[in-house]
Amino acid sequence: MKDYIIHDEWSIIEEGFNPENQRVSESIFSIGNGRMGQRANFEEKYTGDSLRGSYVAGVYYPDKTKVGWWKNGYPEYFAKVLNAPNWIGISVFVDDMELDLHTCTIVEFRRELNMQKGFLYRNFTAEMPDGKQIAVESYRFCSIAEPDAGLIQYSIQSVNFSGTLKVVPYLDADIINTDSNYDEKFWEEVDRGSNQKQSWITAKTKKLDFQVCTGMQVDIVFNGEYQSIIGDPVDRDRFVSKEFSKEISPGDQVTLYKYAAVVSSENHSKTNLIATCQRILEKVYKKGFVECLKDQEKAWKHKWSESDIVILGDVAAQQGIRFNIFQLNQTYTGEDHRLNIGPKGFTGEKYGGSTYWDTEAYCLPFYMSTADPKVAENLLLYRYNHLKKAIENAELLGFKDGAALYPMVTMNGEECHNEWEITFEEIHRNGAIVYAIFDYIRYTGDEGYLLRNGLEVLIAISRFWAQRVNFSNEKNQYVILGVTGPNEYENNVNNNWYTNHIAVWCMEYTMECLEKFRQSHSKELEGIIEKTGILANELDNWKNICENMYYPEDSTRGIFLQQDGFLDKDIRNVTELPKEDYPINQNWSWDRILRSCYIKQADVLQGFYFFEHKFDLDKLKRNFDFYEPLTVHESSLSPCVHSILASRLGYLEKAYEMYLRTARLDLDDYNNDTEDGCHITSMAGTWMSIVKGFGGLQIIDHQIHLNPFIPNGWEAYSFKINFRNHILNVKVSQDKVEISNRSTEMLRISINGTFHQIEPEQVEEIVA
Ligand code: BGC
Repeated sequence: MKDYIIHDEWSIIEEGFNPENQRVSESIFSIGNGRMGQRANFEEKYTGDSLRGSYVAGVYYPDKTKVGWWKNGYPEYFAKVLNAPNWIGISVFVDDMELDLHTCTIVEFRRELNMQKGFLYRNFTAEMPDGKQIAVESYRFCSIAEPDAGLIQYSIQSVNFSGTLKVVPYLDADIINTDSNYDEKFWEEVDRGSNQKQSWITAKTKKLDFQVCTGMQVDIVFNGEYQSIIGDPVDRDRFVSKEFSKEISPGDQVTLYKYAAVVSSENHSKTNLIATCQRILEKVYKKGFVECLKDQEKAWKHKWSESDIVILGDVAAQQGIRFNIFQLNQTYTGEDHRLNIGPKGFTGEKYGGSTYWDTEAYCLPFYMSTADPKVAENLLLYRYNHLKKAIENAELLGFKDGAALYPMVTMNGEECHNEWEITFEEIHRNGAIVYAIFDYIRYTGDEGYLLRNGLEVLIAISRFWAQRVNFSNEKNQYVILGVTGPNEYENNVNNNWYTNHIAVWCMEYTMECLEKFRQSHSKELEGIIEKTGILANELDNWKNICENMYYPEDSTRGIFLQQDGFLDKDIRNVTELPKEDYPINQNWSWDRILRSCYIKQADVLQGFYFFEHKFDLDKLKRNFDFYEPLTVHESSLSPCVHSILASRLGYLEKAYEMYLRTARLDLDDYNNDTEDGCHITSMAGTWMSIVKGFGGLQIIDHQIHLNPFIPNGWEAYSFKINFRNHILNVKVSQDKVEISNRSTEMLRISINGTFHQIEPEQVEEIVA
């Protein structure tokens, strides 16, 4: 755990340079706009430890699979989010000596991620080895208004010397992914050029032919006066630059404005990429840095007005939640149903930038409540559009007749992960995809989605479950063997309670929907029956499986068992582990982890979180009291679910502890892995910890139920949710709950079990 980020309500601040945390900071201070993302690498040269990363949405590389022993069914490739051409580079030379914060003395350093306005700021004073000092100040952002553009303002001042300052803004497409399986570079140059104003490089990926044209247009100002700049001083493959030199004296200032455009063939025609890039450059250049920054502030003001959570009386908690909301909004804007939310978003290479069950299980509620309803539907459509591939994926593993197994990790619908226990065994992901459809309909009331797209997915997934179970003569019940549950610290287990439960729930939910539409929309249903070929005897079979499924339980303790044999383990609470053993995934052998009783993330408890309406508090309490003390929370997805359940149980301290852990997971580097990138998908879980946990939000029978509590040290907190065209603002203080309804219609809401009518444009006060 680290503690070097200054607590502030609206900004992430690092005072003084911490080179030992440079990779962590590069993740935390990342910027993005849904189309592109950039780690907080320095513009100037840095030879210290660093992970360079510029990313472009939807652009990936199918890197040939590398495994020790090939197993049939493995996918051919692992999709990598591509480290794209570097658009931020600016080399600085003082009398021909290059500025490098790793080798010079840093006199002063500060960086700030301004979340309110959406930019990264940095200032520092550096002393070169010969004693010459320069003071630098820079602003950088990925524009929301012009999503193919990134802008930098970079000012250099001489503190104590007279000499030559040379500034070289450049674009570099000669880059590598550190996770490349065969140390191969993934980009090839297609074209590179310059004219008086602009420079550009078009690069294409060696496979799949994604093309990205990266361009720049620059302005140089010396002591307030515009200067001319030299074009293309060097001729190097995959590299373009411009150059400016000036004799300067103490107090003189050179400011470089670098306008960059990153234009990808995912969004623009390949034949016009350069022209499009030039047009965007000209547009932002004409507007100017200051005006573009104003647009940025305006765009963020709007985003915050929809999604901010305000916490009064606890700056660490406030900073944590805003950081999470900021990163979520930077990662996914929801306009493009081909895109999804990678576990690291645009902040690192790990997890390949691909889609996991995280989206359905964790991210959907945030976007459902804080964005246009189309955004949530786009997330569902992403999977609907991959249905054909999910069926093919299941066929590769031997399933048939339209059964679908969605990939654990994907870019385009194909499985692209090749660890046995994850690819073949973590089949519970299929359940989360059905759960998301259920959750979406419960929240939005848009039942038509089932007829439009949802039912086809439900049927295909239910078919998978029906084929994946087998009948145990021994038990005289159905079982599901050889799986990995959400707890990845156990593999190849039999009858993971969560998997068995969600499998049955999927089939039951599918049958319930079919039945409902049989009565209300028989005509539309006929079309779906015809398209999917679903037969009455399939449904009889599902029903039989659902009625005869086996679930491991321990009746003495009154708990569900994570899987068969769980109680044979040496069961000891996490508190007995020595501190230096944390995190166990970095300090223990895998063999020791697998045999231990320690749980990576909610497993049985994930089921309690999803199916809150099916179990009473007593059952939840017994399971929580048993499993939480065995949980090491080494998946970022873990603390949020535990925080929500602890809130429900009234374990307020635990709920708060888990909240801080999820909210500040990256800021404080709890799991010692933020250097790889931020945990974007679990950030949506942080949002849920407040709204569903502290606020107690549940949707029951089309109505909102709130059951709020407020952590001790907080004066108040408030959140907004968009529920069926009502924007509700809920403010919880120590002695009351205030709700306002921004809409034209009254809304009935249950608060602590009593219904209230919240009239439009009125604030209703309820004494707690
Ligand atoms: C978790 C998975 C998750 C993945 C990506 C893993 O550590 O165990 O549940 O899908 O990370 O976030």
